[in-house]
Amino acid sequence: MTKRFYVTTPIYYVNDVPHIGHAYTTIACDALARYKRLMGYDVSFLTGTDEHGQKVENAAHANNETPIQLADRVVRRYEELWEKLNISNTDFIRTSQERHKKVVQSIFEKLEAAGDIYLGEYEDWYCTPCETFWTEKQLDDGNCPDCKRATQKLKEESYFFRMSKYQKQLEEHIANNPGFIAPKSRANEIKSFIKEGLRDLSISRTTFSWGIPVPGNDRHVVYVWFDALTNYLTGLGYGQDNEKFDNFWPADVHVIGKDILRFHTVYWPTFLFAAGIKPPKKVFAHGWWTVEGKKMSKSLKNAVEPKLLADTYGVDQLRYFMLREVPFGLDGDFSKGALVHRVNSDLANDLGNLFSRSCAMVVKYFDGVIPEVDQITEKEKELIAKKDEVYKKIETLMESLEFSKALATIFELVAMANKYIVEMEPWTLAKDEKMTARLGTVLYSLLDIIRIIALFLYPFIPDSSLKILAHFGVADELKKDELEYDCDFGGIVPGTKITRPEILFPRIELKEEEA
Ligand code: MSP
Repeated sequence: MTKRFYVTTPIYYVNDVPHIGHAYTTIACDALARYKRLMGYDVSFLTGTDEHGQKVENAAHANNETPIQLADRVVRRYEELWEKLNISNTDFIRTSQERHKKVVQSIFEKLEAAGDIYLGEYEDWYCTPCETFWTEKQLDDGNCPDCKRATQKLKEESYFFRMSKYQKQLEEHIANNPGFIAPKSRANEIKSFIKEGLRDLSISRTTFSWGIPVPGNDRHVVYVWFDALTNYLTGLGYGQDNEKFDNFWPADVHVIGKDILRFHTVYWPTFLFAAGIKPPKKVFAHGWWTVEGKKMSKSLKNAVEPKLLADTYGVDQLRYFMLREVPFGLDGDFSKGALVHRVNSDLANDLGNLFSRSCAMVVKYFDGVIPEVDQITEKEKELIAKKDEVYKKIETLMESLEFSKALATIFELVAMANKYIVEMEPWTLAKDEKMTARLGTVLYSLLDIIRIIALFLYPFIPDSSLKILAHFGVADELKKDELEYDCDFGGIVPGTKITRPEILFPRIELKEEEA
């Protein structure tokens, strides 16, 4: 049976241009999607943009644009960035698309038919940046308890979703599915939120028009979070391509930032309960990045524009840094110093040198022809055993989205390979003609372990990994997605001719870049 995997990023608001926070989630999802593909899964990987709502409407007006003009302009920035960062999403959803409007309206009608939507009147405090209503009691000194900005009192006719009806079902779902909210440490805040009592939720607005009309009453537009969350269904062809939908739903994981956990683990599953659709298997909330110790502000965002970072330091360097530096789930700080240090020490020194030294020795001692293995000794067996151990560990760590640990584990193998060179002293073996067969075994073993390291690293740094594999004649660059995950020792064909490779990860001189 085909194994399938469905992973999603949040859809990004178009009132803001992409920054490293957005790049982070998307890179993480990409690593997961690529890993699952290597493991033989058919992967659906959805990202996109959240284009409706008051916030976007306001931003457009402030810019003398229509909301769709703004969206069309900003969406290009996202699409270009994902291409630049080598993101392998299988679809890109825009909530302004017709296919999405149909799904949102059909889910709305489903809830209505189930008796879970009623028309009422709303009087509460609204935070536009968060697109959230608060009761007087929930306010923090009159301000939004989440973002601390000012709220406004709104009174309007509104459709309500009977969220209160699903409190018990949600509590049971969370209790029976310990993997639903991840990391585990996040579950408590959601449990206590639910315990305070779920209120019915206003799911339509009448004070602005940039949204999807409520079916049968187009004075109302659908609440932007109802609209946005539903994207995860649209992206699988809900109501249009039943086979695809049934194959991939429920989603294996929605990856999100910690600030939007409640929407994904309270609102979203209760909407789905009401629509008779299974909730996603897992919602994983990652932490937030600060920049050089400070909260990201408009000016700081320019300094950490992901496209600029990728142009300056390299795409794989940025991908590697973000996933290696901070355990996924915790907050982290982005600094150029930390990035440069990581890249130089792990990628340039440890991995890059291992690759170039090993190839150079094959060129020097065997005229560039990859030698055959003669007799495997205990030393090679140790390397092979370590690679088997790493393979197994990665499997567990990727399951729990522990990217940083997975990378650290792969680099244990890199370190071991470097140590193997020091211990085997190929330069000494080369001096003794009787040792040619042994030298061949050592160099072959090194190269094949590097090949396997490149496969392990492929989900994280796909371009560099492909360069290594292509150098050994084992990657068909034209078939990136069909890369074979052959981690058995002995994949390189002896006799393959290689040259001295280009430097994979040039050292970054901090002084130079500061200048
Ligand atoms: N449109 C909603 C999501 C709807 S999903 C059905 C939204 N958009 S957003 O553009 O404001 O944020 C998108 C994601 O970026 C969120 O997961 C958020 O956590 C993440 N980040 C925004 N700033 C961030 C950092 N400084 N660091 C890490 N991630 C951050 O919310």
